[in-house]
Amino acid sequence: MWRGFFISLSRNRIMKERVMRWGFVRRAASRFVAGETLEDGLRALRELEALGIRGILDHLGENVESATDALRATEDYLLALERIETFGPGRPHALSSPPHLAVKLTHLGLDVSEELCERNLRRLIERAAQAGTVVEIDMESSAYTERTVNLYRRMASSYPNVRIAIQAYLYRSQRDVERLIEEGIARIRLCKGAYQEPPHIAYPRKRDVDANYIRLMERLLSAEARARGAYVAIATHDERIIQHALRRVAEWQVPREAFEFQMLYGIRRDLQVALARQGFVVRVYVPYGTEWYPYFMRRLGERPANVWFVARNLLRA
Ligand code: FDA
Repeated sequence: MWRGFFISLSRNRIMKERVMRWGFVRRAASRFVAGETLEDGLRALRELEALGIRGILDHLGENVESATDALRATEDYLLALERIETFGPGRPHALSSPPHLAVKLTHLGLDVSEELCERNLRRLIERAAQAGTVVEIDMESSAYTERTVNLYRRMASSYPNVRIAIQAYLYRSQRDVERLIEEGIARIRLCKGAYQEPPHIAYPRKRDVDANYIRLMERLLSAEARARGAYVAIATHDERIIQHALRRVAEWQVPREAFEFQMLYGIRRDLQVALARQGFVVRVYVPYGTEWYPYFMRRLGERPANVWFVARNLLRA
């Protein structure tokens, strides 16, 4: 119910216009969003790099309604890639590894037309390959899952520098994971899922989501999946699951090149640093841009305590 409330707020345009003007909300959102400009995102990446943490740059935006907006989003990402190259190894302010890009297909025009979205995505993937980096396709609500998985399959068979997010709360994810392993393209960011889904589509109980997460994670870490090229980014802040992963990779002698940990900007920095210090690849998802409202609402929906955090900003104001 709690999550549903914030997901419906995230889609409410009138609330969006109002709320985004409130200074205390903007200040609270800045815990989860690096800032409104690309330079803010790059600054956050450099700070993370100083801690031994890699990045995924997300230019915030979703559900654009015109081809012009989808093209603008694509051009913004291309610009980000150009800037990333100026930060490449051997350059001043070098980042030792270029950040990945996270994209939402509805930001690239999936609601307008699949062909347009595919064209935009292909441009980004090809340009990212030149810049020596990877495009990670975020997973949105279940209305988009089938099209997102299919678009990923078309891209992944031609381009090695693309990955997809899979949500453990969806019943279908087990089938999707098996199929991607079978096709040799299981380069997966495994997350729990951040949207509101009905019980015939997604596990309603957290404990079932967590159990499915562990099942899928173990499958992707298995020797058989790895032999078929599987790679898993374990995207969670759940310490119990992370400890489970650490036990499994030790027991099964999974090489460190076969997996990484991912977390969100502003959440469990202590855990991010601790894992990086142990020598694991840790990648943090760094969102930036003016379209922070829906992203911020999803973060509020994940954790009731975050609302008190907003309230504290109001009191301070
Ligand atoms: P869980 O919700 O069980 O939280 C475990 C602990 O993490 C909490 O006890 C708390 O300490 C901390 N925590 C979690 N959320 C917090 C928050 N909002 N504020 C403060 N603390 C918090 N989803 C999706 O649908 N599509 C996608 O493409 C992605 N992509 C993605 C990338 C990356 C790198 C991450 C880490 C996550 C995503 N997600 C996502 C979001 C994901 O589905 C999920 O909603 C959040 O990660 C929260 O779930 P946890 O796995 O952290 O577990």
